[in-house]
Amino acid sequence: MTKQYASGARWAAGMALACFAAGAAAQADEARARKIVSGVCFVCHGAEGESSSEQFPRLAGQNSEYIAKQLDNFKSGKRKSTAMSSMVEKLTPDEMAALGKYFEKMAAPAQPPKDPALAAVGGYIYQHGNRYSGVPACVGCHGPAALGTATLPRLAGQFAHYTEAQLKLFNKRERTNDNAVMHAITEKMTALEMAAVAEYLSGK
Ligand code: HEC
Ligand code: HEC
Repeated sequence: MTKQYASGARWAAGMALACFAAGAAAQADEARARKIVSGVCFVCHGAEGESSSEQFPRLAGQNSEYIAKQLDNFKSGKRKSTAMSSMVEKLTPDEMAALGKYFEKMAAPAQPPKDPALAAVGGYIYQHGNRYSGVPACVGCHGPAALGTATLPRLAGQFAHYTEAQLKLFNKRERTNDNAVMHAITEKMTALEMAAVAEYLSGK
């Protein structure tokens, strides 16, 4: 065996070991997340993030970094929530990241909107905003399919009740974390526009 070959083989073995270790760590994270979800979160958010009621946001398909950030914000008190503050007390940053990845992988099938006429108004607002009152188009940040980005929430397939409630909270500044952008937007929105865009997104 030449010296060069031997070092190449060692390198390959080292890489294989590193990949195996990374794979094992990912599996351990997933197992840990599954345990936390089946221990407590499932009661409200469902085992697959589908959520048991309109009161609780669907987490299936939500962006992992956004989820981890919200959990961190609930823990630090930056985002106030009576329901969530006690849920996150014992979560570590690693567990928050693992929970984000767990929910991001779940499928989030859209439900047809209950009120198609209202959803059509919401679709207009989402795509174009309201140029008469200065509401910007949501599409500019949340994306054409409303899937968001790592730092921007996915809105597609979310329960209308939750989306509308958050828009009202942003307007009153009662959604306390990073509300500057969304406060400036919701302040220009009517109650009808909020309900309409929420209805549209629930079926997207
Ligand atoms: C008793 C019901 C309940 C349980 C149990 C619960 N949650 Fe929640 N969760 C809520 C409610 C209600 C909200 C909406 C936040 C608000 O405005 O109060 C929420 C919001 C969230 C959000 C923010 C979603 C978004 O779109 O911004 C995340 C992430 C989350 N929960 C994750 C979890 C995790 C992880 C667990 C388990 C450790 C958990 N929740 C357990 C009720 C619950
Ligand atoms: C300039 C960029 C921008 C535009 C335009 C925008 N948003 Fe947002 N939106 C954000 C950011 C940033 C957040 C995340 C705040 C955070 O990190 O907690 C957010 C959060 C939200 C949330 C909270 C989601 C959740 O899971 O809790 C909703 C609902 C929302 N936006 C709806 C809308 C709607 C409806 C429109 C159009 C009327 C819109 N946004 C336009 C940037 C934007």
